[in-house]
Amino acid sequence: CLTPDLLHLHTIDNTIVVVTDIFRATSCMVTGLAYGVGSITPVATVEECFELQQKGYIAAAERNAMKVEGFDLDNSPFSYMDEDLVGANIAMTTTNGTLSITKAKTSAVKVLVGAFLNLGAIVNHLKSQPYDVLVLCAGWKGRVNLEDTLFAGALVDALKDEYIIGEDSALMAMRAYQQAQNDLLGYVANSSHVRRLQRLGIHKDIAYCLQRDLYDVVPVLRGSTLVNM
Ligand code: MLT
Repeated sequence: CLTPDLLHLHTIDNTIVVVTDIFRATSCMVTGLAYGVGSITPVATVEECFELQQKGYIAAAERNAMKVEGFDLDNSPFSYMDEDLVGANIAMTTTNGTLSITKAKTSAVKVLVGAFLNLGAIVNHLKSQPYDVLVLCAGWKGRVNLEDTLFAGALVDALKDEYIIGEDSALMAMRAYQQAQNDLLGYVANSSHVRRLQRLGIHKDIAYCLQRDLYDVVPVLRGSTLVNM
């Protein structure tokens, strides 16, 4: 599902949903859990995030790739590599990523969070599952984006011998990934969110988020909260 606006076309009852938002929400979540964050509670709105901040959560809020004033953390994965966050409970809202997770959690068997950073860990987990798999790309405000599509394609490519490919969107994503895999950074160079991040002076996050298999973590939603499986 290349954008959450098309999620209503899919039945996800018997399905594991892997939500991805490569730049940068799910890359932050994977990094945070890899560095020892206790839990991450994704919420759709800034108001919900503020309420959790009032209850003692460390609160991360991003809109349009910028930190929302008054919150503790921005949406850079490097901000989650912090000893002070070990064991912490974080509440997080982002423009697209956390919204997609909240949409997915309604009826899926399980909601996982994927990024290139934990690609292999997600693949290994999905190899032994008796369910369908839907990759939900967060995109940008309802639009398809390249980097999330490439991640979906990487998963399809890695799992094509275990699952039947059900949708042309999955085939398209896989073929794009096959073209891009030897130079992901070059392939996304002119994409919309890369340009947006560059305009904001955010450069190092781009290359970081495109690295494969840095972490062996599988973030899974338990109730409303993401933990490492
Ligand atoms: C999002 O959820 O839309 C993103 O993570 C935006 C960002 O790069 O901060």
